[in-house]
Amino acid sequence: MIELRKINKDNIDEVIALEVAENQTEFIATTNLRSIADAYVLNEDGEPAIPFAIYADNVVVGFLMYTYDILDHKSFENEVFYRKIGYFIWHIMIDKHYQGKRYGKLAFEKMLMDIETMPFGEADYVALFYHRSNFIAKALYASFGFSETGIVQDHSILAIKNLD
Ligand SMILES: CC(C)(COP(=O)(O)OP(=O)(O)OC[C@H]1O[C@@H](n2cnc3c(N)ncnc32)[C@H](O)[C@@H]1OP(=O)(O)O)[C@@H](O)C(=O)NCCC(=O)NCCS
Repeated sequence: MIELRKINKDNIDEVIALEVAENQTEFIATTNLRSIADAYVLNEDGEPAIPFAIYADNVVVGFLMYTYDILDHKSFENEVFYRKIGYFIWHIMIDKHYQGKRYGKLAFEKMLMDIETMPFGEADYVALFYHRSNFIAKALYASFGFSETGIVQDHSILAIKNLD
């Protein structure tokens, strides 16, 4: 069974120790440790951010984090979602030893279901970036209705899903 649990003193060490494979490091723009630190700073700045440990049958197998913010990056200026409120998937990973067992897909699905309850407030969109060579992530997100935008930052493509 897949569960998302908040980071706490019992799981933080395990979450920080999770690793992707060496040839996947270019796919992740951050680390779990840095994301947890970012969550602290974002929350302090009034931007909600929530990091989760992904559990499979009570074992920590991955990490994910999402935030809630206005989609107001300058590069979004000509897009319909510019200045709209959105949930943003900051990071998702499954440890290299546990990949390919459907944990990523199930955790992603659970996260989207959480987001659809609008835990931080109403929003029009959910957005994420993935590296242009990350074909597994691209197919995974497309299967949940994410469409690529034309926006590319540091080799990563912005994809978006309408939440209505
Ligand atoms: C991307 C990631 C989260 C997917 O999680 P996972 O548990 O490994 O993937 P799942 O077992 O849930 O599989 C999801 C889909 O990807 C496919 N897939 C998974 N591993 C694959 C592989 N090595 N080769 C081809 N397809 C693969 C599965 O077949 C499945 O597709 P389907 O639903 O059409 O059958 C995980 O591989 C990962 O952490 N990768 C490194 C970090 C990363 O890229 N994070 C995303 C950043 S945007």
